[in-house]
Amino acid sequence: MKYYAANWKMNKGPKATRDFFSEFKLKYKPNDQKSLIFFPSAFSLEAAANALDGSQIQFGAQNCYSEVKGAFTGENSSDVVRELGGQWVLVGHSERRSLFSESDKMISKKIAHIQGLDLVPLLCIGETLEERQGMETSLILEMQMRRDLSQADKNKKIAIAYEPVWAIGTGKVATTTQVVEAHEHIRTVLGLLGFSKTTPILYGGSVKPENASELISLPHVDGFLIGGASLEVKSFLDIVNAD
Ligand code: PGA
Repeated sequence: MKYYAANWKMNKGPKATRDFFSEFKLKYKPNDQKSLIFFPSAFSLEAAANALDGSQIQFGAQNCYSEVKGAFTGENSSDVVRELGGQWVLVGHSERRSLFSESDKMISKKIAHIQGLDLVPLLCIGETLEERQGMETSLILEMQMRRDLSQADKNKKIAIAYEPVWAIGTGKVATTTQVVEAHEHIRTVLGLLGFSKTTPILYGGSVKPENASELISLPHVDGFLIGGASLEVKSFLDIVNAD
């Protein structure tokens, strides 16, 4: 199974979401070997839920708080994602870590909470340019995994997205050697920590139709987390259809 996850970030309101799916559903030919997951902004989740009702295409939230409900002004609940029929929650994206000060401790709580509601966390990890230049990539990935997964339930599904911070939205994609090394390392650490051998490991960071076919063929690359190129039907479908 290959996973194609679309991270729309803070783009597309309900109307743009409906328009996207009207066109997408006409053009996409479902394939049993490919799982598609959309992460619209919270305000557009219901529009996505309605548009995807009855289809195999899945969706989820880009973030959630680690409580079901209560006095947490401005936060969003995973329970609402579940109520709308969503199955996934993105956790620990580098933009959440750097712009909104999300710590590994908060992330580990969120993961336990999400799994507790029988939703699937898609945990993002990745090194900064400085860390890569300092030869710290393996160490950083392992540290993030050990901390972020410390409260995770090993018997429930989880997925990892390897997203080098320097490759996100920059047009600078990691080289195939860098991707293979990082994914192999993540696979090893997942094994050491007792997670299933089939835990999907996605690559993210400037995935485009032009580089998708090479990247998807690499060992331990089980799919992609796609930002910019997921906003247009054509470019997203070109990535999904690149074999
Ligand atoms: P990008 O974003 O594809 O625009 O680099 C990826 C992400 O942030 O998940």
